[in-house]
Amino acid sequence: MIFGRVKHLPKPLAAIGALALLTGCAQLTLAWTDLTPDGDPASPPVLDAFDGAPAVTTQAEWEAARAPALRDALQREVFGYLPEAATTRVLSSRVVNAAAFGGKGVLEEYRIAVTAIFDGKAVETRGANGQPGFVMNVATPKDAQGPVPVVLMQTFCPRWDTLPDPAVAGAPAELERRGGLETYVFGRFICTPPVEDILEAGYAIATIFPSETIPDRKEAGLTQLRRLSAGHEDDETRWGAIGAWGWLFSRMVDVIENDPRFDQDAIVTWGHSRYGKSALVAAAFDARIDGVIAHQSGTGGASLNRRKKGESVKSITSSYPHWFSRAYAGYAGREEAMSTDQHHLLSLIAPRPMLLGNARRDVWSDPNGAFRAALGADPVYGLYGGQGIDQARLDAWRPAADIAFWIRPGTHGVVKEDWPAFLEFLDAHFGARPNEVAAR
Ligand code: GCU
Repeated sequence: MIFGRVKHLPKPLAAIGALALLTGCAQLTLAWTDLTPDGDPASPPVLDAFDGAPAVTTQAEWEAARAPALRDALQREVFGYLPEAATTRVLSSRVVNAAAFGGKGVLEEYRIAVTAIFDGKAVETRGANGQPGFVMNVATPKDAQGPVPVVLMQTFCPRWDTLPDPAVAGAPAELERRGGLETYVFGRFICTPPVEDILEAGYAIATIFPSETIPDRKEAGLTQLRRLSAGHEDDETRWGAIGAWGWLFSRMVDVIENDPRFDQDAIVTWGHSRYGKSALVAAAFDARIDGVIAHQSGTGGASLNRRKKGESVKSITSSYPHWFSRAYAGYAGREEAMSTDQHHLLSLIAPRPMLLGNARRDVWSDPNGAFRAALGADPVYGLYGGQGIDQARLDAWRPAADIAFWIRPGTHGVVKEDWPAFLEFLDAHFGARPNEVAAR
């Protein structure tokens, strides 16, 4: 963090830094990330003896014993426990614009009611005004031939900013107000992805505003998290918002997987920063998710907890006490005592493809720690007969690799270079595949 150095910065940079701090998003820094691994390897090694259980050498051992043990450790020490079960009901669905986004897409709206079940006790989610469930908007390429891949998104912005169309429920009459200060600081695509380009490339987009269900605020967020997990007695291991938002990605899948218009082998979660963390959790805990794009997910996401650069466990758990379990906060300053680390989270996604997005000056998100976590997860891709990461340097971009590590110059945000990289990755792994689709 540079606060001590602000006085040496040119005024516009200082203003941007101040805004970044005020909005609670990332810290501006003058440091650069090393482009070769510059710290300890991820520990403990993912296939070694763990918690009294012997080392793992086969895929069967991994699936039957190690993966469940790591899921448990990550819930116990980092995210808190997710519900043991859920129910999902579509209350209504309708097309709100049959020719949206320059005629390239069909835009729909779903109202979805879900319950979280902890220790047999089911509690239904509610919106801010007490209404049941939440809204999901879906944009599907117009005249799509056959089932299409779908990118599930959670963003910082209301749904009408993510899929800007006046027909989206709740959209203000004046959609033009977008493109303000936040896009100046965090990039043109921080709220709104290049929707037309994505549709044109053959991908559907489904989006919810996670704060509609679990508010991204300390008090209100904790209140909802407690209400939904009434059956879970232990406060230390109660779920936080990152786990809950990850679980909401799965509730989106509950709806998408029943729809033959979507390719059930090409459901990808996408998220930036805090929602990069939730996108990873979703994939690690839900095998129906076929891939992940986690951009600048940082602490509690892709980057390692032990001896880390950038945001510490202490800092994230005191600034955002509603994001993780209390147990995680208890490890602040004694991360060595944890039995798990974030490479375990990544390893649970194997053998599915993931893109880890980074920026060189976004040292707060610790790109080098994410790279070392990717190396730490790699042996599990080997168990499946594949290769995870296929680059020795952070900037040797390999979009077709199963762990594709992307780093660009610049800072925290979603900028113009990012989406072409995301689409390259999507095309390499989930591209429209016309022959396969025709053969079905
Ligand atoms: C803050 C927080 C990060 C988070 C980021 C974001 O910077 O410290 O952990 O990833 O906000 O969500 O933009």
